[in-house]
Amino acid sequence: MSAEPTSLTAAGDLHVAVIGAGKAGTAVARSLLEAGYRVSMSASGDPDRLSLMIGFVTPGAEPKWTHDAVADADLVVLALPLHRLHTIDPALLEGHVVIDTMNYWPPVDGEIPAFAAGDRPSSEVVQEMFPGAAVVKTFNHTGYHHLEPDRRPAGDPRRLGLAVAGNDADAVALVAAVVDRIGYDPVTVDSLAGTAFMQPGGPAFGARLTAAELRELAGATAPVA
Ligand SMILES: NC(=O)c1ccc[n+]([C@@H]2O[C@H](COP(=O)([O-])OP(=O)(O)OC[C@H]3O[C@@H](n4cnc5c(N)ncnc54)[C@H](OP(=O)(O)O)[C@@H]3O)[C@@H](O)[C@H]2O)c1
Repeated sequence: MSAEPTSLTAAGDLHVAVIGAGKAGTAVARSLLEAGYRVSMSASGDPDRLSLMIGFVTPGAEPKWTHDAVADADLVVLALPLHRLHTIDPALLEGHVVIDTMNYWPPVDGEIPAFAAGDRPSSEVVQEMFPGAAVVKTFNHTGYHHLEPDRRPAGDPRRLGLAVAGNDADAVALVAAVVDRIGYDPVTVDSLAGTAFMQPGGPAFGARLTAAELRELAGATAPVA
């Protein structure tokens, strides 16, 4: 993988590309900016169309075309609807650590057979679509409107946890450091196969749990076959 966790966890050094500038993408981008990261953002079209919105909604983020944002980034956040994911060229994400914030939501996404089958967590399908990337699932199990107000400094007894799951240990460690810096206790899960508990229908989805509570659910959930 291109990212080097040990040298890139200092906030100022890490450039994050957030793909998708809607409800989830803007909340994640603001959290990253406030934690000291460099952030670029893209949507489905010309960055000039995003500039005004970004100036108000995520000041400090840089609007870019998706391919430029990813090319410059140490870490990529996918925050677009799953039914639009097929528009992202797998070659673009090759060698990148990629945060998957996405959930399969049929009323919005329609019927997508690979996700609708429900025989494995959605991020496993995403990993299969982008075999050259290290996919890490996080941010998906909290509502966009809770992400910022629920942030707490390390050691605060009310601090909540966020699950951080992936098949690549270095990628998980990098993203866990980002989650911690943003204001959550990361609860790492060493496989995307074990993430049904944190997606729609799972007990952690939308539940706003402490790390201990989340760890219990993560441990109690057997990987989906
Ligand atoms: N809403 C939540 O509370 C929440 C929480 C956690 C996770 N999520 C997940 O996050 C994902 C996005 O949800 P959302 O609620 O943020 O949706 P949203 O508000 O509808 O925003 C979607 C964003 O994706 C962009 N987009 C669409 N196609 C794109 C493409 N091909 N390339 C780059 N950007 C593209 C859209 O840009 P254009 O307008 O230019 O098309 C828009 O900025 C979903 O999978 C959702 O399940 C949502």
